[in-house]
Amino acid sequence: MQNNNLPAHVGLIMDGNGRWAKKRLLPRSVGHKHGMNRMIGLAEHAQKKGIKFLTVYTLSTENLARPKEELDGLFGLFRKYFTENVKKLYAKNSAVKVIGDISALPEDIIRLLRDGEKNSPDGAEFTLIFAINYGGRAEIINAVNRAIERGEKLDGKGFASLLYTDGIPDPDLIIRTGGEFRLSNFLTYQSAYSELYFTEVYFPDFSDAEFDKALANYAARERRFGKVK
Ligand code: IPE
Ligand code: IPE
Ligand code: MG
Repeated sequence: MQNNNLPAHVGLIMDGNGRWAKKRLLPRSVGHKHGMNRMIGLAEHAQKKGIKFLTVYTLSTENLARPKEELDGLFGLFRKYFTENVKKLYAKNSAVKVIGDISALPEDIIRLLRDGEKNSPDGAEFTLIFAINYGGRAEIINAVNRAIERGEKLDGKGFASLLYTDGIPDPDLIIRTGGEFRLSNFLTYQSAYSELYFTEVYFPDFSDAEFDKALANYAARERRFGKVK
């Protein structure tokens, strides 16, 4: 019925960094570094395309159980990004937002993430949303507990306002790189009617052209939302 050519909100499950590195006999950390660089390039590309929101799955609640060495490497990349790259985004009238329970992260990173959000320009044309220590189930449980505290019954709109994604439209398209066919706890509530696109390409190799392929595939789909054509 609806053939929205361009998704307003794209979710990106950036998977395959570790295998990309392994294939090259490199440590996993090198894969994450290349993945981070690719994410920066893709965010710029997505904005140029006219996408309004890009949510990048950066760290899941489950990923927090990975070895300390790998996590320290990832935290180092977050530090670098939020001190160096975030200003370049602001300069292009872009905002950053963080979803997830960041209270479990090192203090200095919490501060960097909060400042990154706070210093974002008002009325930005593009928002890059980092899902960090994010889990769809934890998000839903958190929202339910907040509703209970308020002692209110909620409708769909009220419930959505208690999620981390309050004010952000549901993802129209979710892309997963790295060859797995699952969502791994990403935007569990919000993905009810998302179009899904899976590719074998490992994230560090997921080029702008590969991203465009996903957009073209999306543009050819018919979204019916349960209605008849
Ligand atoms: C995704 O890449 C990035 C994070 C989960 C932080 P992986 O690290 O899961 O890479 P693979 O799946 O082991 O190749
Ligand atoms: C999903 O990838 C999380 C991120 C990309 C941040 P994982 O590699 O953690 O997912 P599984 O373990 O294959 O489901
Ligand atoms: Mg993985």
